[in-house]
Amino acid sequence: TAPFIITLDGPAGVGKSTLAKRLADHFEIAYLDTGAMFRATAWKLGEGAWDWDKDKLDAALKELEFTLSGSGSNSTLSLNGIALTDEIRTEKIGMWASNMAKIPAVRTLQKTAQRKIGETTSLIAEGRDMGTVIFPQAPCKFFLDADLEERARRRFSQLEEMGKPADLKDLIEQIGARDDQDRNRKVAPLKPAKDGIIVDTTKLDIDGVFARLVAEVKKLS
Ligand code: C5P
Repeated sequence: TAPFIITLDGPAGVGKSTLAKRLADHFEIAYLDTGAMFRATAWKLGEGAWDWDKDKLDAALKELEFTLSGSGSNSTLSLNGIALTDEIRTEKIGMWASNMAKIPAVRTLQKTAQRKIGETTSLIAEGRDMGTVIFPQAPCKFFLDADLEERARRRFSQLEEMGKPADLKDLIEQIGARDDQDRNRKVAPLKPAKDGIIVDTTKLDIDGVFARLVAEVKKLS
């Protein structure tokens, strides 16, 4: 049977990763963190790679190979055989990733890699354009949203847990700027799929959102 794919899109800090991992454990399928692919690309190529000329960028992109192994919250994304670490999970690398994510050649590389993984593997695919561009045929396409301040608070706690304390005011500014860039870019902007399910999570806790998403998926079977 064809792989089963659930897409989960939304702005930064909305709780996508936490929910995607829980859904992946619940349904015993893999979890694909596509933000991590853009982050790893930006981190590997380094600061300013978004200004490289086309030939230099194409040559560098050709050297990147992403693979996904494992299942549930233990799904592991690797770049050229090396598992990605928390090093890519800072707001600085998030902004680098967003700068890279505007470039069509970068998106084409990710699209090919993501669809290839989805051809053989059932997935919770998390990102910005999973439901609109990468897997529009997925039977269940979620778009999570929440107020900017609430998302900054969630990201704040997440960074704190990783031992990377941040300033809440800075986060509001940084996440706001990154979202604006993601929503307003020409290629694959952040937006819900036409037939997607939009969930405003501002006033919901993670258990509430999780229950809602599971119920929606169960309606399908
Ligand atoms: O989700 P995360 O914050 O890790 O994503 C980092 C950046 O990667 C986003 O701000 C966005 O610019 C880019 N991205 C994207 N398409 C995706 C996933 C992430 O453009 N599917």
